[in-house]
Amino acid sequence: MDGDNMTSNDNKSTNVVWHEAQVSREMREQMNGHKGCVLWFTGLSGAGKSTLAHAVEERLHQMDARTFVIDGDNVRHGLCADLNFSDEDRVENIRRVGEVAGLFVQAGLLTLTAFISPFRADRDRVRHILGNDFIEIYCDTPLDVCESRDVKGLYKRARAGEIPAFTGISSPYEAPENPEIRVNTGHGDLHVCVDQVIAYLQQREILF
Ligand SMILES: Nc1ncnc2c1ncn2[C@@H]1O[C@H](COP(=O)(O)OP(=O)(O)OP(=O)(O)O)[C@@H](O)[C@H]1O
Ligand SMILES: [Mg+2]
Repeated sequence: MDGDNMTSNDNKSTNVVWHEAQVSREMREQMNGHKGCVLWFTGLSGAGKSTLAHAVEERLHQMDARTFVIDGDNVRHGLCADLNFSDEDRVENIRRVGEVAGLFVQAGLLTLTAFISPFRADRDRVRHILGNDFIEIYCDTPLDVCESRDVKGLYKRARAGEIPAFTGISSPYEAPENPEIRVNTGHGDLHVCVDQVIAYLQQREILF
């Protein structure tokens, strides 16, 4: 098996031993001048997760911070290309993203994720993996506003019955009960939403 220690019927990696790095997360954060964390944007399709995540990233980049956005659609082309939109596969999609985001935090990055992530239990699982590094940002845009935007034309198709299990129409969205940040991406100004996220990072001393 190509030099690793697995036997032919052992594909669960039981013989794998964690290797400690010489360069720690703290050393990377010191060099970066800020801490690592995950800004987990959640909300309906069209709520403004991608728009806001990229606008926050742009502002952070201007502040010389090291950042990366993991965006739902992009991940579906690669890391999660084998998954569909069944409940089971949505769970696995979010689990993988949580694990990858955790690695990026270890790399000292301000990591921004933009996934509908409609199920509370899935988001809470990521929260459990990441602990204090997990910052849930609820893009609180009402369904009627998202539907009137219909950025990708998906609501129209979902209403026509062409997309099964579409969040908000034929599949539930479970809003966060206690998000670290709630942003008014429905009626609020984008710059105000960005300011709100940056202020939170300063208050938590994630940005030194
Ligand atoms: N305050 C705001 N914050 C973010 N987006 C806003 C705001 N006000 C208006 N918009 C508009 O709302 C739309 C949001 O679309 P966007 O693609 O960001 O949504 P999304 O949540 O990423 O959806 P999806 O889950 O389908 O990827 C954009 O056209 C954006 O310009
Ligand atoms: Mg998006």
